Amino acid sequence: MTLRMLAAMPAFGPPRDKPELGIKLWGIDFPNPIGLAAGMDKDAVAIRGWETLGFGFAELGTITPRPQAGNEIPRIWRVPERRALINRLGFPSEGMEAVAPRIERIRKAGISIPLALNFGPNSDTPPEGIAADYIALLARLGRLADFIVVNVSSPNTPGLRDWQSPEKMRELFAAVGEHAGESARGRPVLLKISPDLERNVMFRICDTALALGLNGIVAGNTTVARAAVGVSASHPGGLSGPPILIRARELIRDIYTHTRGQIPIIGVGGIASAEDAWLHIRAGASLVEVYTGLVYEGPGLVVRIKSGLADLLRRGGFRSIGEAVGIDR
Ligand SMILES: Cc1cc2nc3c(=O)[nH]c(=O)nc-3n(C[C@H](O)[C@H](O)[C@H](O)COP(=O)(O)O)c2cc1C
Repeated sequence: MTLRMLAAMPAFGPPRDKPELGIKLWGIDFPNPIGLAAGMDKDAVAIRGWETLGFGFAELGTITPRPQAGNEIPRIWRVPERRALINRLGFPSEGMEAVAPRIERIRKAGISIPLALNFGPNSDTPPEGIAADYIALLARLGRLADFIVVNVSSPNTPGLRDWQSPEKMRELFAAVGEHAGESARGRPVLLKISPDLERNVMFRICDTALALGLNGIVAGNTTVARAAVGVSASHPGGLSGPPILIRARELIRDIYTHTRGQIPIIGVGGIASAEDAWLHIRAGASLVEVYTGLVYEGPGLVVRIKSGLADLLRRGGFRSIGEAVGIDR
């Protein structure tokens, strides 16, 4: 199924979820904890489709301020023997002015799932202009988002991952706090980080996120590791799917333990089954997201994960997802 087909699919109303799958975070009700990861619907063309497939929320983007084409083709490869992907897309985006009316239309018509917007800078923006790019995105699109993800962890935009340091974060969020204006006011802001960070740096980033009053961490993005996760394919870019499952889970557990559960975590990386999602939740994720699993397992994956999660909750004697968050720390 392609994105265009999904966008054209008749909406037959959102499926009803079992109440025990629901979770409330930042005052927002999520009907279930399974979200669409960023990168699948970069231009917000299939929002109704994600609701229809049963997602509990969708993260749209990465959206850049100005339109850009991204890297030249080929820029995405399958690693079929590991059910994995490698991509170096480099944020192809129609830009914020094209995306805004699409989300406005959906908001007017009504949508039953929270929408996150994931923001990134244009690839030709110099380092001193990065904060201004995020500010422009927050000012234009902030009010259309239920929550916002600041992406500083894509391996395919040169220099972007340098913003994953306490010093740079303070600089970025000081500027953003001062200039983003009313549009984004009150919206939870999350930081999406890379699984490739050195552990000590990652801990300092979490401390800084707490000190800055950020509302959550998305853990994590794709990895540039290959041999370390048992993949021999050498295409350039970020690796996703089952080879990064364990690394993502360690990252979630480390963040949860280090912050004593004080900052909500969206766990993403390698999920292809209910069991995978369950173990990310038990490691500390309040919500989870999928991308590569959807490509290999098909759109029925969302419903399968949800019914599997409901079984796992019942068998474990849990009354809600919230009760299971972080119990394996
Ligand atoms: C083709 C592709 C494009 C992606 N584009 C983005 C993106 O634009 N922004 C972002 O934050 N993450 C992006 N990601 C990363 C995913 O959101 C996710 O963090 C990562 O793929 C790990 O999850 P998975 O193993 O379920 O795929 C992309 C991933 C893939 C495979």
